[in-house]
Amino acid sequence: MKIPFNKPWFTGKEIQNITSAASFGHISGNGLYTKKCHAFFEETYGYKKTFLTTSCTDAIEMAVILMDIKQGDEVIMPSYTFVSTTSPFILRGAKIVFADSLYNHPNIDLDEVEKLITKKTKVLVVMHYGGVACDMDKAMSICKKHNIILLEDVAHSIDSYYKGKPLGSFGQMATFSFHETKNISSGEGGLLVLNDEKYIERAEIVWEKGTNRSAFSRGDVDKYEWVDIGASYSPSEIIAAFLYAQLTHIEDIQKTRNAIWDRYYSNLLPLANKGAIQIIDLPDFATNNGHLFYLLTENKDQRDELLDYLNHNMVHAVFHYLSLHSSPYYLKYHDGRELPNSDKFADTLLRLPLFYELSLDIVDMICEKVGEFYGE
Ligand SMILES: Cc1ncc(COP(=O)(O)O)c(C=O)c1O
Repeated sequence: MKIPFNKPWFTGKEIQNITSAASFGHISGNGLYTKKCHAFFEETYGYKKTFLTTSCTDAIEMAVILMDIKQGDEVIMPSYTFVSTTSPFILRGAKIVFADSLYNHPNIDLDEVEKLITKKTKVLVVMHYGGVACDMDKAMSICKKHNIILLEDVAHSIDSYYKGKPLGSFGQMATFSFHETKNISSGEGGLLVLNDEKYIERAEIVWEKGTNRSAFSRGDVDKYEWVDIGASYSPSEIIAAFLYAQLTHIEDIQKTRNAIWDRYYSNLLPLANKGAIQIIDLPDFATNNGHLFYLLTENKDQRDELLDYLNHNMVHAVFHYLSLHSSPYYLKYHDGRELPNSDKFADTLLRLPLFYELSLDIVDMICEKVGEFYGE
């Protein structure tokens, strides 16, 4: 049987929680399990206020509404990211200014960002690739100096840290994903983190389809009315109950994934030391959350050959993002700057299977296959 790239893992408590949510007779959004999930994130990581959402894409859409993005506002973000980092801004008429990745890491090159700032720049989005932090001192100082909003796309970054502080707590806003491929999953799901008090009141309204329903439920207002724009961003209690089961196992999940990551690293390091492949070391300021393990090949042809070799040998390995600045949709809007590092990661990065139930023996076997490809 082929070794899958990803396999969702169930803690065993999900169905129990869903049954319990159903027994309370409240399975639409913002019930007991939604509140438990919010409390988990606020108490564990110190986020000021959180809102569970139907996906990370939707959390970014909410963030964009709260930032009041208008036609012509400029938003700087990496080209090497998922389309959802971008498309909610496009929906509201923003101009995306793509920045390159660092030479030695897929994360955004913050030194380049300074050169892209204009009077119209409203937001800087950083995405911590593979849960490994961008240099947040640098990102925060750029945003402070130019009075720009900082959004952290923390889709990959649950329980990961920069200089001991959790990712998602640096930006005014941050957005998590609980898609099936993430460390903690509810199939589809997301979370908007607000660290700036000023967005909270409006967020409650945008989250509830533009109504003041939350205030009404608390008894703060005597009428439930349409007061702003919004959408249906709040997931059902069934999703929240599932997610909460996963959250209560986070320590075990992170420990297991990190052990798999470490095994890949120690097995493949000799090959990297010989120069056959490249494995990127973590910067001193960042932790690893075992979200994904990737290696870099010499060039695209070699990456594609290695992908074919592994897939023919029953290992489902995959590439990752394709540069957004040269995507069929955005090419006509991009200002023509070359972004060679982003293209390099699009061409040479290969991800190996990593999921909770992947045994270390299988990891050893996958690494042997990689070695075989390089004639070991
Ligand atoms: C960096 C990044 N941002 C956003 C998303 C969107 O997440 P979701 O599928 O929860 O909408 C993804 C999806 O994998 C992602 O990789």
